[in-house]
Amino acid sequence: MNLATVVRAEEKLLLPTYDRQRVLFTHGKGLYLWDSQGKKYLDFLSGIGVNALGHGHPAIQAVIKRQSAKLIHVSNLFFHEYQAELAKKLTKISGLDRAFFCNSGTEAWEGGLKLARALARVENNNGHKAKWRLLALEGSFHGRTFGSLATTGQVKYRHPFAPLVPGVGFVGFNDVEDLKRQFDGSVCAICLETIQGEGGIRPLSEEFLKTARALTEKTGALLILDEIQCGLGRTGKYFAYQNYGIKPDIITVAKPLAAGLPLGALLTTDRAAKGMHPGMHGTTFGGGPLACAVAIEFLNVLDKLLPHVREVGGYFEEKLLGLAAKHEAVKEIRGQGLMLGMELKSGDTAKATVKQLLERGILINRTHDTVLRFLPPYIIQKKHVDEVVRALDAALAGDVPKKTSPIPGAGKSAKRS
Ligand SMILES: Cc1ncc(COP(=O)(O)O)c(C=O)c1O
Repeated sequence: MNLATVVRAEEKLLLPTYDRQRVLFTHGKGLYLWDSQGKKYLDFLSGIGVNALGHGHPAIQAVIKRQSAKLIHVSNLFFHEYQAELAKKLTKISGLDRAFFCNSGTEAWEGGLKLARALARVENNNGHKAKWRLLALEGSFHGRTFGSLATTGQVKYRHPFAPLVPGVGFVGFNDVEDLKRQFDGSVCAICLETIQGEGGIRPLSEEFLKTARALTEKTGALLILDEIQCGLGRTGKYFAYQNYGIKPDIITVAKPLAAGLPLGALLTTDRAAKGMHPGMHGTTFGGGPLACAVAIEFLNVLDKLLPHVREVGGYFEEKLLGLAAKHEAVKEIRGQGLMLGMELKSGDTAKATVKQLLERGILINRTHDTVLRFLPPYIIQKKHVDEVVRALDAALAGDVPKKTSPIPGAGKSAKRS
């Protein structure tokens, strides 16, 4: 099948939810993908942060082969041997007490919100003041289901589906005073991404996150952190909040957890889980034996990769800062480890840059209109960073490969956040 045939068939047969790049991928290995024309691409996006070990990692392949022959699914009506083992690993690295497994990021986030409301209900029964409001953050993204949408701080995602889940307030990004103003005893949870991903690779300030922790501790509200994009090694620590010296009550993870198979999880303290009892929440597919066995292997590999993520991430950031100093088109470099963003002054320039890199055989994407997002696999080496930085340098300088239009705004000087 060729690209044109697939495009025509999808246009006719699929819901028009995606504006896909015109590339038909057929296979991948390590850091590279190949399209139907045989063109090779260096993958600096890893399927939006999912393929943290690249494509076709031998240890992951081996587990899939072994486990798929043994047992793929049993439902959550029965036990299998991997959920508790995976929960043990995740609770150990997070410092939390319990896990719930599901299939995606949005489902993990929904679970976190439900836990907060359920706990508030139990505590209200004990005579506490009504506590049901959720505070979320402007610019956030938590997924596409109703609760996740309701807490997503971007009108463009919420607006078409209103009315959404009630009781959500939005606080200005890193606005400590606004947080203090909006927080009171009626709030059951403050819900934040430790580093906003879709919102443009924007890390929470230490002051903001510590204030959120202190406020919630005063009233018994929960601090829920969405680590779906920034967690599980992406910043060079197991979780991004571990860079801040605080501990949340609940975190959600997904993307790289099962190295490309769908698996999400929420991790919680014992106290935050108090409102849940059998029958209140669940999933048919979530936490199946195949996905969990793969996730255990992913975490085994990750243990050894964290120092590498920090080192190569630091190198990449330094190189991006060099580009920021050189090109007038760059506004700011943000992020940590291998979750980095380059904000450009113009959305058109960002769009053209992504297109030019694609033509040069490098995959990145653009988020929040003006931000180039880099989420490479954790196994990249400095030479791959050099290759991407060279391509970015050329693109920002207006050195255009054939058949693309020039990028406006190339020149001198730039900054770091
Ligand atoms: C921070 C964050 N939360 C939640 C989600 C939703 O995850 P999923 O698409 O797996 O439902 C995403 C997806 O991009 C995300 O980046």
